[in-house]
Amino acid sequence: MSNLPLLEVRELVARYPLPGVPSFGGLVKRARWLQAVDGVSFTLARGEAVGLVGESGCGKSTLVSLLARLSDPVSGRIVFDGIELAAQPAALAARAPWRSRVQMVFQDPHDSLDPRRTAFDAIADPIRRLLGLRADALRERVLTVARRVQIGTDLLQRRPHELSGGQAARVGIARALGPGPELLILDEPTAALDVSVQAGVLALLDRLRRELGLAIVFVSHDLGVVRLLCDRVLVMREGRIVDEGPSHELFDRPRHSYTAALAAAIPRFPGGPLPGDGHAASRRQAVRRSA
Ligand SMILES: Nc1ncnc2c1ncn2[C@@H]1O[C@H](COP(=O)(O)OP(=O)(O)OP(=O)(O)O)[C@@H](O)[C@H]1O
Ligand SMILES: [Mg+2]
Repeated sequence: MSNLPLLEVRELVARYPLPGVPSFGGLVKRARWLQAVDGVSFTLARGEAVGLVGESGCGKSTLVSLLARLSDPVSGRIVFDGIELAAQPAALAARAPWRSRVQMVFQDPHDSLDPRRTAFDAIADPIRRLLGLRADALRERVLTVARRVQIGTDLLQRRPHELSGGQAARVGIARALGPGPELLILDEPTAALDVSVQAGVLALLDRLRRELGLAIVFVSHDLGVVRLLCDRVLVMREGRIVDEGPSHELFDRPRHSYTAALAAAIPRFPGGPLPGDGHAASRRQAVRRSA
């Protein structure tokens, strides 16, 4: 296995147009831009899980949509296993040979699944499109992936509105796993779920990560969850990475005042440990048991 990072991101920039400002006495509008991702660089090792945290609007979703090549950067590089992903427009990425190796899970599973398609079809579509499997081979792979995320075969004929939040989240994860990715990008995959359901889905992700050797980029508002699931954390603010480090260290000994402020906002019991502190192993076990 190569020692090269699985993913290398260099000086990535993305921006959105803002309403123009009238100039030359109102004759023309001067273009203005919001630099939502402003020169982001980081690397990700094979099998590593990195958390991406930061306040609302700091650019997390914009960044991960670039990584998954669902949108185009203005400049910068995204090198996945030696392949330059940023060179191609996003419109062509859907059919690129590397597409099966980089997959994304979205925030709201009910929103991201087609309401007219069954869970079986939702999982089968990317497998058919990206791996070219048909008939029995396709069905076999869908069933294998469904088993992996603990979706019973009876649920596979249901449409999204007939699934609970947790079941729909598992279908969303199965859909991403079907093509056999090495990198899974998750944008707040449990934000829409109740806490108890969330714990089950997180435990599932933790298990899948270990079993499949997946590298993960995990966006979350919940720093406790990030400590639990991720080896390393990137702290984002106003489009930039302002701090990074091993997740168990970063929030205990933050180097940046912004990280300290985020850490201070982690809910904790009075005098009690932070989520993941000291009791990380037993907490991990507790979460695994609820999987
Ligand atoms: N389609 C768009 N057009 C214009 N501006 C956008 C668009 N999408 C996002 N933005 C702006 O870009 C910035 C970054 O947004 P982004 O959604 O990436 O943030 P985020 O960190 O994911 O926030 P949240 O935690 O609330 O999901 C914000 O200021 C947002 O208002
Ligand atoms: Mg977001």
